[in-house]
Amino acid sequence: MKNFLLSVCVLISVLTPAFAIDMTGEIDAATAKVLPKVIEWRRHIHQYPELSNRETNTAKFVEDHLRKLGIEVRTGVAKTGVIGILKGAQPGPVIGLRADMDALPVTERNSLPFASKVTSEFNGQKVGVMHACGHDSHVAMLMGTAEILSSMKDKIKGTVVFIFQPAEEGAPEGEEGGAPLMIKEGVMTSPKIDAVFGIHINSQTEVGKIKYKSGAAMASSDWFSIKVKGKQTHGSQPWFGIDPIAAATQIYTGLQMIVARESELTKAPVVIGVRENIIPEEMTMSGTIRTLDAAMRKDVHEKIRLTATKIAESMGATAEVSIATKTLVTYNTPDLVKRMLPSLEKAAGKENVTENEWTTGAEDFSFFGEKAPSFFFFVGGMKKGQDPKTAAAHHTPDFMIDDSRLDVGIKAFANIVFDY
Ligand code: NI
Repeated sequence: MKNFLLSVCVLISVLTPAFAIDMTGEIDAATAKVLPKVIEWRRHIHQYPELSNRETNTAKFVEDHLRKLGIEVRTGVAKTGVIGILKGAQPGPVIGLRADMDALPVTERNSLPFASKVTSEFNGQKVGVMHACGHDSHVAMLMGTAEILSSMKDKIKGTVVFIFQPAEEGAPEGEEGGAPLMIKEGVMTSPKIDAVFGIHINSQTEVGKIKYKSGAAMASSDWFSIKVKGKQTHGSQPWFGIDPIAAATQIYTGLQMIVARESELTKAPVVIGVRENIIPEEMTMSGTIRTLDAAMRKDVHEKIRLTATKIAESMGATAEVSIATKTLVTYNTPDLVKRMLPSLEKAAGKENVTENEWTTGAEDFSFFGEKAPSFFFFVGGMKKGQDPKTAAAHHTPDFMIDDSRLDVGIKAFANIVFDY
């Protein structure tokens, strides 16, 4: 009996690794080795940023790297996008890992040796170009992940699709782009992706830490435009005309009432922001709508249409409302989050992984999430010990990230691949 038990024990200990190989040690070692290169790549990409749908050199940089690793490559996806397909030695699910590649029309304001001096044309104006949202680090981390995973190919059960996406910040006017165009061109279907993951660096989260949120995590973003038409008259005799500005200010108050008095704010926040642009006889108000709940989003849209047209009507003016979808709610599939949380803890240490608040920021990663279970999380890029309130926000000229711990993102992606 004793002998029998012993042989069962031996059998189990021999069999267990075949079912679940713990790759943490191997991933840690490979990541430590690749990290200096990843930092170098990130700085190179930072120095030579490219605007949305214009990421040709960045794409080439990624393409050359993936080819060197012997990974199957597709280029020109959604204009400048690059897809890498790594088939593991054994069959299994298909997992998508995404990094966005574009920079912003912002002039960099710091004295880093790799600060951007690039200028470009944006909406007919000469502008500075800067990686002011940290997408440079996303590209570098995913390139690093591709390098270490390609060296572990024999142990991968399934396929990894590396998605290098253009135009997350929005395609230039009149152009298609970003996640919706990649999806249109088949990125989620050939091969069919079973789950998709994305990382965003955060300039106000300390390095070494990961933040995530289960369920709705980031807001949907819709752009609205309301054209109010009145009737021109002499400034001294307003009663002979219809003042579109007076109607617009009433509409503005009405829109804020949708947030303050008509939205169930304990369920999820809503933001309606307006910037005004005044022209004679008619005026156009435009702004952004942020919601974290699909039903509330629909409701807010209806209320904006109703409020604007009825207020205008009550004053003898007319209002034309148009609403354009920029992103959906970034929804992290709760089951997937629960299942992958240990992978994040392996990457950063249990004490460094915490659940986040909602954010009213928006991400076009949400379109991938509409097609497959998905998980989008944040990796810290703020200097250790810094006060988040003093750290420059994303999309500003002083934005800066500490790139010393990009290993956290690489380890998170790599552990997710093996644990999934
Ligand atoms: Ni971003």
